[in-house]
Amino acid sequence: MNQLTYIFLALLAWTSTVHAYFYVPNFMSTLPFGGGMATAQRNNSMILFGGETDSTSYTNTLYQLTQNSTGFTWEALPQKNAAQGVVYAQAIVSKDQSSLMVIGGQGNFTASSTNSSANATALPLQLQLYNFASSSWSTYAPKAGAPIPNNRKLFSATYMESSNKVYIYGGASDEQNVYNDLWVMDGSTAAFTPLKPYYSRYGHTGSMTSDGKLVIIGGAIVSGNQNSLASMNQLTIYDTTSNTWSIVNTTGNVPSPRSDHSAVITSDDKIIILGGDSGAVARKKQFTRSVAILDTKTWTWSIPNIQGILPSSRSYASAAILDGQHVTLAFGSALNVQYNDINVMDIAGSAWLQSFSAEDESSSSGLSTGVIVGVTIACVVLLVIILFVLWKFQAYIRFLVTRIHSDIWKPRSGEPIWAETFRIIFQIFFIFIFALFLVFVIKQAIDSPNVIQRIETAAAEVESPDVRFCFDGYNVNTANPNDINNPGVACQTDVGYSCNDYVQTLDMTTFSPIFTDHLGNVQCYLFRAPNTFKLASTSGQNNGSRLIFTMYGDQSITAARVHISVYPKAMDPNAYIYGINDDTPVLLNQADVLSWQNDERNDVAATNIYSVEPFTYSALSYEIADHRYLQDVGWNYVGFLPISNNTPEVTSNFRSESPNPQYTLNHADIGVVAVSPNAFTDIVDREVKMYTLLNALGFVGGIFGLLIAVQAWLFGFRPRSPWGVVHRWSMGDMKRSLLRGLQSKFKTTDAAGIPLVHPVHKRFSVNDFNNLGYESETQRIGRVEERMQVMELLFKAYYVDDEVFRSLDNANKNAPPGYDQAHGAGTPLFPSNEKVDLARAGAAPAGTALSSPSPSQPSGGGRFSHMFNHRNSMNSDSTSHHHLTDTTDNLHMRDV
Ligand SMILES: *[C@@H]1O[C@H](CO)[C@@H](O)[C@H](O)[C@H]1NC(C)=O
Ligand SMILES: *[C@@H]1O[C@H](CO)[C@@H](O)[C@H](O)[C@H]1NC(C)=O
Ligand SMILES: *[C@@H]1O[C@H](CO)[C@@H](O)[C@H](O)[C@H]1NC(C)=O
Ligand SMILES: *[C@@H]1O[C@H](CO)[C@@H](O)[C@H](O)[C@H]1NC(C)=O
Ligand SMILES: *[C@@H]1O[C@H](CO)[C@@H](O)[C@H](O)[C@H]1NC(C)=O
Ligand SMILES: *[C@@H]1O[C@H](CO)[C@@H](O)[C@H](O)[C@H]1NC(C)=O
Ligand SMILES: *[C@@H]1O[C@H](CO)[C@@H](O)[C@H](O)[C@H]1NC(C)=O
Repeated sequence: MNQLTYIFLALLAWTSTVHAYFYVPNFMSTLPFGGGMATAQRNNSMILFGGETDSTSYTNTLYQLTQNSTGFTWEALPQKNAAQGVVYAQAIVSKDQSSLMVIGGQGNFTASSTNSSANATALPLQLQLYNFASSSWSTYAPKAGAPIPNNRKLFSATYMESSNKVYIYGGASDEQNVYNDLWVMDGSTAAFTPLKPYYSRYGHTGSMTSDGKLVIIGGAIVSGNQNSLASMNQLTIYDTTSNTWSIVNTTGNVPSPRSDHSAVITSDDKIIILGGDSGAVARKKQFTRSVAILDTKTWTWSIPNIQGILPSSRSYASAAILDGQHVTLAFGSALNVQYNDINVMDIAGSAWLQSFSAEDESSSSGLSTGVIVGVTIACVVLLVIILFVLWKFQAYIRFLVTRIHSDIWKPRSGEPIWAETFRIIFQIFFIFIFALFLVFVIKQAIDSPNVIQRIETAAAEVESPDVRFCFDGYNVNTANPNDINNPGVACQTDVGYSCNDYVQTLDMTTFSPIFTDHLGNVQCYLFRAPNTFKLASTSGQNNGSRLIFTMYGDQSITAARVHISVYPKAMDPNAYIYGINDDTPVLLNQADVLSWQNDERNDVAATNIYSVEPFTYSALSYEIADHRYLQDVGWNYVGFLPISNNTPEVTSNFRSESPNPQYTLNHADIGVVAVSPNAFTDIVDREVKMYTLLNALGFVGGIFGLLIAVQAWLFGFRPRSPWGVVHRWSMGDMKRSLLRGLQSKFKTTDAAGIPLVHPVHKRFSVNDFNNLGYESETQRIGRVEERMQVMELLFKAYYVDDEVFRSLDNANKNAPPGYDQAHGAGTPLFPSNEKVDLARAGAAPAGTALSSPSPSQPSGGGRFSHMFNHRNSMNSDSTSHHHLTDTTDNLHMRDV
């Protein structure tokens, strides 16, 4: 049971170490949130251009995500001149890897809504070329007079490396104008050639197989006025060798149709499609996170059962196989949600990974088979060992079985078999019930939920929190730090103590939170007091009980906000990010901070962050509790001295008044915030397990006692052996020494026999009947005395409380005063010298001889002298085999 528990605990501990998150790189706080980027692969790197973010529809940023054996590196590539911002464009890296070509896409230049006079579809395909060596952009102009396709988005541009050609198919200029044309662009001459058109289609992907087939998957097909998602049962293929379109029927587990998904092709011509959406209008659009694999050799679809944490559902993601073994799926968007994550799928192992290294991958898949082989071999070896042991010690095992049987089967004198059978059945039943209960109790302790106990004690002083003020929409005049319109925060307490020194300016180039209102420039300030600064409950000599912050900024700006957030000092991620080293260590680890930064950049934090309008008065109250989270260690299941992490946590309440239109008349500032503790108390939130093994002990004891009581009530009390398990189940040397001890302590002649074991009538009347005539009366009495002596010793040793005898002896020596007169004898109950009678009779004193038997002691020739010598050698030789075969001897070892 214990082992089971340990295995369970170990498993529990193991599962809890698995991150519940996608791959978290340490540069995550710099990854943009975005989708619809033009993506191309350059060796182990993904080159990402443009795309949409939450604040911009078309960006012109250029990034490189590089995979190495242990992770990724992320960098923004330098750009000497700005490119046109685009979304839903395609990108190709030239054959010599010297340049990146961004093809088409939607941008400011195509925005037909802002340029109604222009027919946006008439724009020629936009080709922007980035040179990696010179870091500069140029526009790529095809030869004059040569045909060129119209500009488009959501099309496919598939590069065929062997012929250095790019196949461009379909796409749309907007929802009304969808293209059906197929073009091929020569990579070296940039000449476009129109090929045979097919269905009007957009939102699809095109993958090139190694035998020159362009496989078009998904997207929406426009046929007449019908706009529907392309079927996955029938795929459109363009054969680049025969220059023909064809349709193939697919088999297998066909995935649902989709649009705006991502597709990558493996070296063995399997196309993996990831994500996508239902292609419906925005408010009805549904997104998927499913992955499907098409084997283009057999045209069979399969939907792999992928382990790990699936990436969120999304469209317009960037995907590539950078190292030949893993699919990297990054960014993407789903309506208003943009992603800034990097997800890695191991193709061979069919798993989304939280971290990886190329070496580990190959060995870990080998490991699982290695483990299976190892376990199998271990099982076989174990089986062989067990069989050998069984065979080798069969005699002992048989003895053990007999022993167990005789230990269990103990009918009392006169008890019928059915009564004993019932008792044993009940006992087994009770043991079963008890075991069941034990399992239940242990399982309850293991599955125990945690509960939180709050302990509040009054305190004279409480800690002040860190308060961050982020001015959103106020410009900073960096040229003149003394500009009266620069934002800023002044601090004082209600007793006038000035705490301005504890307000510091945070460097927004290190990290800047993003507020989705995008009111303008963001500049943050942090109030962080030293540990010696406390807010006090008492009046008089102290630094005050409340903080009063006055905020300054350009009074002419009204469309601006100050975002205020509070943190416990030890849990302030700002101190971590901006490298503030003071007397309060920050308990956060990097993963916590990264995930906080991600939230800040996504503007999703809702607790302890408040937005203040200019020209208002606000009040904020807080309480900081020491939350003692139980650590996930096996020891905490025991319930004694739990191991916990102390985590300070803040909760706050906020109230803000309406802006005062007259505020500027008599104030130079833009608002006031008062920060005060809820109450002057020390708060501890202690997490405890509801059920622990220690609690369980009480229940287990109770049920055990109850079952024992019921058993005793039904079947009477059966005294256990006065000896313990060690004595009863000992073997080898231990057992032999026990037998020797018994022999020397209770030695009898064969003639006297062992009382209660060898019945009197058998010894004297049956077995020795013939002998009886030759026995003198003295010999007979000697034998009876000897038997009596052993009997006394047995009783004394095992059943009769020694203390009674000692008390009796004492009482005898110091008889009460009145006793003497009453009896007039002046003597004790018994003469105290009676016990040494034996010694006087010439024998070894019984007491000393029995407690320290020694073979070297000379035999005195007294009445019991034979007890201490001649049987010694006889039995000690034979015990080793004797005890295995003769069950009567075992009676020594069991309940006598
Ligand atoms: C890409 O890999 C090839 C072969 O390993 C190498 O010669 C080339 O320099 C690499 N290109 C870049 C841009 O790293
Ligand atoms: C791989 O990238 C990680 C993350 O940037 C970096 O720490 C590591 O040193 C790189 N490993 C190699 C072998 O370049
Ligand atoms: C697109 O136009 C908007 C306003 O029309 C402008 O703010 C933005 O900078 C432009 N973006 C690019 C990439 O040119
Ligand atoms: C509108 O489109 C025409 C034709 O493409 C172009 O010349 C003009 O610059 C565009 N105007 C604006 C404001 O983008
Ligand atoms: C706009 O482009 C479409 C598609 O090429 C064409 O049918 C239409 O005539 C064009 N309209 C104008 C005003 O040029
Ligand atoms: C594909 O299946 C359709 C019916 O579902 C059938 O009409 C067509 O002939 C099949 N095509 C091929 C190439 O087997
Ligand atoms: C006031 O705060 C300072 C630290 O800022 C501390 O050194 C000083 O002891 C405090 N004074 C009182 C009366 O608590």
